[in-house]
Amino acid sequence: MVFFEWDASLDVNVDEMNNQHKTLVGLMDVLYKKNTAGAPKQELMDSAGGLVNFVIKHFQDEEGYMASINFPGLEAHKQIHKNLMVDLNKFVGDFVNGSDEKISDEFITFLKFWLSTHIRGIDTKYGMK
Ligand SMILES: [Fe+2]
Ligand SMILES: [Fe+2]
Repeated sequence: MVFFEWDASLDVNVDEMNNQHKTLVGLMDVLYKKNTAGAPKQELMDSAGGLVNFVIKHFQDEEGYMASINFPGLEAHKQIHKNLMVDLNKFVGDFVNGSDEKISDEFITFLKFWLSTHIRGIDTKYGMK
């Protein structure tokens, strides 16, 4: 079963950002699948680290895109990114430093929530015509 999958409801009308979102969803899906399959903790940490690195790049590129079109909601969107980054780092940090061998359900729910509320509800605004 594919748990994280890009679909048309995530379309933000900007090709480069759609491509990055597809990569992001793919990285979440790999992490989810490895976690479900009982992969060793080191592998899960590597996947989670790769996700964090991609998110850093994605937020930079997305903020650069919004600046390039003079998007009026840029500052508010930046703040939302900052908060998401704090939460993501906390989930990853808790996993890395904790004794759990598996990613928590709360972490998975947070990633799902990200797609449904951030991409669908917030990112789509900069692509509106
Ligand atoms: Fe965003
Ligand atoms: Fe985004």
